[in-house]
Amino acid sequence: MTDSSHTFGHIDNSRPHPARMYDYYLGGKDHYEVDQAAAADVLAIYPSAKTGAAANRSFMRRATRWLATEAGVRQFLDIGTGIPTEPNLHQVAQRIAPEARIVYTDYDPIVLTHAQALLRSTPEGRTAYIQADVREPARIVNAPELRATLDLTRPVALSLNALLHFVPDEARPYEIVGQLMDALPSGSYLVLSHCTGEFDPETFDRLIDIYHEGGIPAQVRGRKEVEQFFDGLELVEPGVEVGHRWRPDEETLAEGLSDADVSFYAGVARKP
Ligand SMILES: C[S@@+](CC[C@H](N)C(=O)[O-])C[C@H]1O[C@@H](n2cnc3c(N)ncnc32)[C@H](O)[C@@H]1O
Repeated sequence: MTDSSHTFGHIDNSRPHPARMYDYYLGGKDHYEVDQAAAADVLAIYPSAKTGAAANRSFMRRATRWLATEAGVRQFLDIGTGIPTEPNLHQVAQRIAPEARIVYTDYDPIVLTHAQALLRSTPEGRTAYIQADVREPARIVNAPELRATLDLTRPVALSLNALLHFVPDEARPYEIVGQLMDALPSGSYLVLSHCTGEFDPETFDRLIDIYHEGGIPAQVRGRKEVEQFFDGLELVEPGVEVGHRWRPDEETLAEGLSDADVSFYAGVARKP
């Protein structure tokens, strides 16, 4: 399993990529045959992948709205952004606070080719895009584009949505999250969603095999392991929950989703 095809600038359509498979689950158009084939294998054993992906976008919107409205956050660092899907995080935040500043990061060159959609900021706010790998957190926090956009003496919400299940234990995901949060001041937030196999372990074992066969590093984690990402932080109510149970709005409640349909944990926590 290698990640060599994420060489910056080179779009590799010889094997599936997580950003493009996710685009397929969400009904987008920015994927190749190889992504569609791998996604079809996933959907054949887990048809809820589409529902889960949509529920994950819904969590991003609810968490962003909560941060901008209830927590007064005006700066966001979103790593593992994915192919733009409306509404994007900056659109949700800037609808509430037009002055909000957002830095997006992804390691996949396909996201870079669509970055224009992420850079359409309000005139009062600002957005930037950095192509970088989360496994190099120092590169991200020291990037000139980040420093020019975010004031790291003021709170930042770091969002790692549907990202860390692509960072297996051997890549030391807990240390990575720790290093990113260390760069942010008190009053900052960590927002995170993460796939879990707890509601259907057999299916998720097979699903992880499909990703591995495509050369994509992947690992699902249980509630305790997801909670561990928030160690040292103050979890906001309701704590780490299955995605659709995290501060559901009327739309979420009306969907009547099951835990197995959603199969990801989500949480938001404040750095003391
Ligand atoms: C499932 S998508 C999630 C997109 C978006 N965050 C959301 O929740 O809707 C995962 C994204 O993480 C990116 N990704 C995976 N591994 C990464 C890494 N090591 N560094 C940066 N981005 C990564 C993929 O390219 C993909 O765009």
